[in-house]
Amino acid sequence: MSANPEIARAVECLRAGGLVAFPTETVYGLGADATNPDAMAKLYQVKGRPAWHPVIVHLADAGLLHGFGRSLPEYADRLADAFWPGPLTLIVKRRLGAVCDAVAGGMDTVGLRVPNQLVAHALLDAFGGGIAAPSANRFGRVSPTIADDVRADLGDDVEEVLDGGPCAVGVESTIVDCTGEQARVLRLGGVTVAQLAAVLGYLPEVVARDTSADDDNEGVRAPGTIASHYAPHARVELHEAIAVAARANALIAERTSVGVLALADADLGALPTGAVVLEAPTTIEEYARVLYQRLRDADRNELGVLLVVPPPNDGIGSAVNDRLRRAAASA
Ligand code: TXA
Ligand code: MG
Repeated sequence: MSANPEIARAVECLRAGGLVAFPTETVYGLGADATNPDAMAKLYQVKGRPAWHPVIVHLADAGLLHGFGRSLPEYADRLADAFWPGPLTLIVKRRLGAVCDAVAGGMDTVGLRVPNQLVAHALLDAFGGGIAAPSANRFGRVSPTIADDVRADLGDDVEEVLDGGPCAVGVESTIVDCTGEQARVLRLGGVTVAQLAAVLGYLPEVVARDTSADDDNEGVRAPGTIASHYAPHARVELHEAIAVAARANALIAERTSVGVLALADADLGALPTGAVVLEAPTTIEEYARVLYQRLRDADRNELGVLLVVPPPNDGIGSAVNDRLRRAAASA
């Protein structure tokens, strides 16, 4: 039993087949007991997510990897050792019976990750088993990085929302396919490709692709790679800093409400009055941390268009750019 009453209540809720939203270092997750088909059905329904989308299973400890996966390549253990707890999801062949079939979306694999967040850890530790959790937003919307956004998105459809403050990383976990001879990156995220390469001894292939939202299933390994994901209602346009002022002028001339998101040191020149400058991150890491907050700010400000100057492609900047491209593509 957990000493913390909120955690104890959340565990009880999960055991009874309920849904619990909880913080991780990446984004908030909407959790359900990974062995309970009814709980999974509820999860898919609340998410508004098609049943062919598999869900990541969260574990308390890297020692559980082999209890959920089977026939693991040796590099999977090395990645788990190096990056767990942390923003890395490993796709492995699943051990039969460890999770219910709905978790895997009909595949013989399962995505596993050990989050690096105190509240998540307390919950997983007290629960003991795997907690299946997609990001705690409705399907196709921006992931929540604070508890208030979870409540705003899901309302009473979620029984418990554990508040762990703002997520430290801010973009989702990196997904690595560990079913082949060599590791392959299916989604860019909190662990960079360079960090993976340092542990693997080679540069992994990145197969995350831009696919259209209508490209329903065939060949789509990680639905987080669907273009319409990560989009606010405002239209997102990507520009170099030097082009922003002219574009903002043109939009305001046609009475479109305009916002701007860029690093604090970007040279935006003279912006027209009326352009809403969203609070600027000062580093690439901060850009990742606040990205989804700013996309939501765009909607809170009822912007028609958000002009975004992407960060440099270094480090976690490549995950930020990946999400920005998808947000822009879904306009
Ligand atoms: O950072 C994260 O990963 C967050 C937090 C809550 O852990 N979770 C998250 O979950 O982003 P979700 O469901 O929004 O995205 C998970 C992605 C989906 O694109 C899903 O298709 C992919 O992981 N995935 C899960 N299991 C898979 C599997 N067996 N094979 C291929 N892709 C899988
Ligand atoms: Mg998601």
